[in-house]
Amino acid sequence: MSSFASSPGTRDILSPDSSRWRLFQATFAEVVERAGYQYIIPPMFEELGVFLRLGDSTEVVTKEMYDFEDKGGRRIALRPEQTASVCRAFVEHRPTTPWKVWYAGPNFRYEKPQQGRYRQFDQVGIEALGVDDPMLDAEVISLASNFYQELGLQQVQLFINTLGDEGDRDKYTEALRLYFTENLSLLSAESRITLEKNPLRVLDSKRPEDQAIIGGAPTIRDYLSDGAAEHFQAVLSALDAMNIKYTLSDRLVRGLDYYRRTTFEFVSTALTAAHTAIGGGGRYDGLVEQLGGPATAGIGFAIGLDRTLLACDAENVFAAPNTSVSVFVVDTTGGIHAAELCLLLRSNGVSVDRAFDHRSMKAQMKAADRRGAAIAVIIGSDEVEQGTVVIRPMGDGQQFSCPKSNVLETIRLELQKLGS
Ligand code: HAM
Repeated sequence: MSSFASSPGTRDILSPDSSRWRLFQATFAEVVERAGYQYIIPPMFEELGVFLRLGDSTEVVTKEMYDFEDKGGRRIALRPEQTASVCRAFVEHRPTTPWKVWYAGPNFRYEKPQQGRYRQFDQVGIEALGVDDPMLDAEVISLASNFYQELGLQQVQLFINTLGDEGDRDKYTEALRLYFTENLSLLSAESRITLEKNPLRVLDSKRPEDQAIIGGAPTIRDYLSDGAAEHFQAVLSALDAMNIKYTLSDRLVRGLDYYRRTTFEFVSTALTAAHTAIGGGGRYDGLVEQLGGPATAGIGFAIGLDRTLLACDAENVFAAPNTSVSVFVVDTTGGIHAAELCLLLRSNGVSVDRAFDHRSMKAQMKAADRRGAAIAVIIGSDEVEQGTVVIRPMGDGQQFSCPKSNVLETIRLELQKLGS
C-alpha cells in the first residue's frame, strides 16, 4: 500500500515545537491585549473578491492564491493573509471605532517551498481601524518591537518608509515607470514584465542585475504630499521618543498593493537564509472603502511565526517549553489503581501519565523516565494489600511508602521539594 507524506510547503508541528507555537501565540496575546487589542477569528476562506483587493499586480494575487470553485459555484480562496478579512469583517459588522483586534493562525500561499517559506504558514498580527493619528502608527510598531523583545530576540532591525497618499503613489509610480523605461535594457527580463504591470514592484526585485538601476531610481520622498510628509515625520518623532531604533528605507514598498503612508518591515539579522523578513505591516487607509465600507483609516502588521521561530533558533532564545509530566503512575496489578490515582491527581491539577498494556515494572519505569516525570508512584500487590503507595523520586532521592489516604498531600509536598 502506498503511504502519504505531508504536501509540499506544509509540515506537521510535533511536540515540543507545537507547545512552542502555543506559547508564541500566548505571549503575543499578552503583549497586545495589554494594549487593548481584542481577539478576532476570521474564517480561513473567503470569496475570492475579498483578496483581489490585495492588488492585481502582486504575486500573492496573480500566482499564489489557493482559489477554487466550491460545490455551490462560489469562487472561494484560502486566505493568503488576514488584513483583508479583518476589513471585510469591519464592513460587515460596523463595530465602533477605534476597532483594535489581534489574530493568529494559518495562511496559504502557493509559493516555492524552502527554508522559512511555506505554503501554509502561521502569522500573529494586529489591525487598528478608524484612526489616522500618527501616534497609532507608532503604537502599532512599538507593539511588534515589544513582542520581539519579549521573545528574547535582539538581532531585529526595523525598516520604515512612507508610500504617501494615493495621489502621491500614482505620481511616484509614473516617475518610476519613466525612469525604468528609459533604462529598460539594464533591467532583468522578469523586471521588465513587472514594470508593465506595476513599476513599484520592480523595487522589490532581489535579482543582482537589477540592483544598480534600482539604486538610481527616484525616491518617494520627492513625491510626498505635505500631509503625508508631516504624518511620517510625526511617526518618526514618536518612535524616537519611545527609543525605538529604525532605519529609513525608501525602497521598502512591501508585497501587497493596499499600503498608503507608513510601511515597515522587521528583518532578523541573525538569519542567513534568503527570507529574513520576520514581520511587516503598514497603513491601508483605502482598503475598507474598496471592500464596500465607509472611508476608514487602518493600520496593522503581521509577524510570521514560522520564520520568527527560526530567528529564535538562530539567537538561541525562546526555547520550547517543558512538556513533561510531574508524576508517572506505575501499576503492576492490572491498572485499575493507576486509573483511580490518575483521576484523583488530574482533577487536583497535578499532571500525570501512566502506562497501559500490563507492561513490566521495568518497562513502566522506563516510560516514566521518557515522560520526564519528577516522581514515580508505584503500586504493586503489597501496596494494594497494605493500602499504601510507594513514592520514588526519579533523580537521586530515596523512595518511601505513604498511606493511600494521604497520597495527594504527600505528592504535592514532594513535588514542591523537587521544585517541579
Ligand atoms: P506580509 O509581509 O505578506 O504581510 O507577511 C507578514 C510576514 O508573514 C512576513 O514578514 C513573513 O515573516 C511571514 N510570511 C509571509 N509569507 C510567508 C511564507 N510563505 N512562509 C513563511 N512566512 C511567511 C501581510 O501578510 C500583511 N497582512 C501584514 C499587515 C497587516 N499589513 C497590515 N496589517
